[in-house]
Amino acid sequence: MALEKDPRQLNVQVNPPYPIYIGKDLATTVANTVKSSKLAIITDSRVKALHLEALTKALKVAGKSGQAYEITPGEDSKSFETLSQVLSHMAHDGFDRGSAIIALGGGVVGDLAGFTAASFMRGIDFYQLPSSLLAMVDASVGGKTGINLPEGKNLVGAFWQPKGVFIDVAYLKTLPDSEFRQGAVELFKHGLIKDTSILEDVKKTEFHKDGEPEFLADLIARSVKVKADIIAEDEKEQGIRAYLNLGHNLAHALEAASDHQISHGDAVAYGLAFDARLGLQRGWQDISQETLEFLRWVNPKKLPVTEFAELEPFLKRDKKNKDGKMKFVLLKHLAEPCIVDDLSHDELLEAWDFLVNQ
Ligand SMILES: NC(=O)c1ccc[n+]([C@@H]2O[C@H](COP(=O)([O-])OP(=O)(O)OC[C@H]3O[C@@H](n4cnc5c(N)ncnc54)[C@H](O)[C@@H]3O)[C@@H](O)[C@H]2O)c1
Ligand SMILES: [Zn+2]
Repeated sequence: MALEKDPRQLNVQVNPPYPIYIGKDLATTVANTVKSSKLAIITDSRVKALHLEALTKALKVAGKSGQAYEITPGEDSKSFETLSQVLSHMAHDGFDRGSAIIALGGGVVGDLAGFTAASFMRGIDFYQLPSSLLAMVDASVGGKTGINLPEGKNLVGAFWQPKGVFIDVAYLKTLPDSEFRQGAVELFKHGLIKDTSILEDVKKTEFHKDGEPEFLADLIARSVKVKADIIAEDEKEQGIRAYLNLGHNLAHALEAASDHQISHGDAVAYGLAFDARLGLQRGWQDISQETLEFLRWVNPKKLPVTEFAELEPFLKRDKKNKDGKMKFVLLKHLAEPCIVDDLSHDELLEAWDFLVNQ
């Protein structure tokens, strides 16, 4: 069955549940599914130029109006300034409680638009149309929305679940290859945590941004399902949602120590190899070759820090730490994560030395 007419669907079992559609050329599906007839489409200038027209046309055909609000691409747009501009424009343009927001873009647009929806008139409906691979497999699902402060990333925000997520793999064609690889890191992470079939598929030659739509949709669906199932069990991150932090202790430390000179995907790809090594040192399944092979495919920039002494303070300061203890997610086996909070300095140093010498 053609993906256009029959997108795959899965549901996120939070209260109330919401659907995720995964397919190709979904503008008409979006237009027919959204409930409100007055829609604010938040997008960035780059994605707008490529993908807005098809959406507004389809909305028009469905008898709905879509007004676009354009932000500047990039992390700096996750700010109070942009939030306040969008909110003011929406108020000025007569949006009300019955209106809804569509986030058309990458994770920056999704986080900002979601938080705009959570705050406008104490909360209105919103829909996610993720356009980057990262937003498809990670940022658009789970209901975390927010903006940054000069003091740190994502320090202001809300849990606000979308009413629906529409993953259109046709958007990937225009995504730069480097961005595709960045998003692939979280997709691969989902494979390690819960669905090992993903690990096989990322090795295939069809795995690239222009790959066969059926193949990409199927793979992305499996990755999203891993996150959606975890969210359904632990919406507010009190327990197993922490598994999604696999690879992220080292990643956050690398980002902080280098003042964000390393990209998130690169940092997590290093973090996954680091965590795999830590598991191996404890006598658990050896998955370091798997993670190193993937790290090479990601082709990250070189490590911004080489001395462990420079990095360690940042590992100890991670915001996910509790009672002064570093909380790591490690894998006992593939698809069998566990939380470890007693890693010693020597264990961390040994894994770091291993990584630096790759
Ligand atoms: N809410 C969550 O749970 C969650 C999870 C992970 C990440 N995030 C957030 O997501 C953000 C990163 O997301 P991102 O990597 O998508 O960054 P992004 O939104 O900045 O997008 C990356 C770049 O790709 C461009 N782009 C996006 N889609 C495109 C397309 N189809 N064709 C051409 N260009 C396209 C954008 O214009 C941008 O320049 C961060 O702010 C991060 O904090 C949120
Ligand atoms: Zn991440």
